[in-house]
Amino acid sequence: METQVQDQNIFLIGFMGAGKSTIARELARIHGMRLIEMDEQIEAQEGMPISKIFETRGEAYFRQLETDLLEGLSPEDHTVVSCGGGVPMRACNVEAMRKSGRIVYLSAQPETIYERVRHTHTRPLLEGNMNVAYIAGLLEERLPKYLEAADLTVRTDGRSAEEICGEIMASERQ
Ligand code: S3P
Repeated sequence: METQVQDQNIFLIGFMGAGKSTIARELARIHGMRLIEMDEQIEAQEGMPISKIFETRGEAYFRQLETDLLEGLSPEDHTVVSCGGGVPMRACNVEAMRKSGRIVYLSAQPETIYERVRHTHTRPLLEGNMNVAYIAGLLEERLPKYLEAADLTVRTDGRSAEEICGEIMASERQ
């Protein structure tokens, strides 16, 4: 089912492994909107994987690239943006997202996140920290910022992409 293109951007925020990329792809397809996967766009722009950017340029450099990307968007872009997990930690990023769209927080329990990311090696923050305790600690630290930024929170544990997209779309109609 195709629905109307949204009149603003949709930003999906949440911890690594919350399902942002999958849901963003699906929402963009359903609404016929553009899709930006922030990590992929930054990797293409810099010509290297995120892990290499962290290693050679440092995290602060990467965080500025995220901010630049968000500040370059306007509501007319009609884009679904899958944000990197650290994006809402900077107030200026939240401000930039609010100016051009709606912010949806995809929540997940640490155990769910662990199961989704445990076999991956693309996230520098989890290298050497791939365990539920570390994930739970970082999530607890970040949670207030995620919740503060969100216009809508959608739980993802044990739910299909279809259910999650359905909840997001139902809230758009209200
Ligand atoms: C990060 C999340 C990653 C990526 C980078 C840092 C974070 O994105 O931007 O590794 O600070 O949580 P995903 O949330 O898409 O995995």
